[in-house]
Amino acid sequence: MRIPIKTKEEINIMRAGGRILADILETLRKEVCEGISTKYLDEKAEDLIKKYKVEPSFKNYQGYPACICSSVNEEVVHAIPSLKKILQKGDIISIDCGIIYKGFNLDSTITTYIEPIPAETKQFLKNTLKILDKAISQAIQGARVGDISNAIEKTAKEYGYSPVRELTGHGVGRKLHEPPQIPNYGKKNTGELLLPGMTLAIEPIINQGERYIKTLKDDWTVVTQDDSLSIQVEHTVLITAKGNEILTKI
Ligand code: MF3
Ligand code: CO
Repeated sequence: MRIPIKTKEEINIMRAGGRILADILETLRKEVCEGISTKYLDEKAEDLIKKYKVEPSFKNYQGYPACICSSVNEEVVHAIPSLKKILQKGDIISIDCGIIYKGFNLDSTITTYIEPIPAETKQFLKNTLKILDKAISQAIQGARVGDISNAIEKTAKEYGYSPVRELTGHGVGRKLHEPPQIPNYGKKNTGELLLPGMTLAIEPIINQGERYIKTLKDDWTVVTQDDSLSIQVEHTVLITAKGNEILTKI
């Protein structure tokens, strides 16, 4: 399958959907506090999804049972919300959510924490957001997927972190996962050419320690092998004639 180029009408739909998803995630961010379960966050997400009359992208996707992934501390991605997972002071949590609006998927992840947390952990989040910024700044017409991947790898390594190699960003639109795959490491000037109208989910997944991961027995939750912290941040980005537009930004 070639990389779909969205029409003006489709872009307008994705723009509106992106605003809804940004709003849902910002509302969830404000809910994060000591003592709540990650299941509570998923229930909130489901309420908001209903309120906006959109559909969850993740629920039932390959059997995934929830509207969000709620990955805490050493959990890397795809942690299933649970009543047993109660948030504590010092936790850092990535909330990944996808919605379908008028037939189009939007995909975004925010990361937040509960004070007090070490200065080093705060810096880890700040730096990971900078990695996402750098990656997005490479997502322009005429560039290649490898330019995005290389920006993630290079910036992460400059900070002393490890990008996870097994998990990638992706095209997003009528399907949650469309071509191209966007690895979190790679070489400049390689891979697919980027053109206006492409919509990409760019999602650096960065470990503070070593890059190695494993999947738990629930077949979903991915954790770091060395128990180090991991952060994921993600936006759906539209390539335009002039540069790009972050569709899932507040
Ligand atoms: N942002 C993740 C991805 O692009 C979300 C998928 S979770 C799943 O793969 F539950 F839908 F699989
Ligand atoms: Co994604």
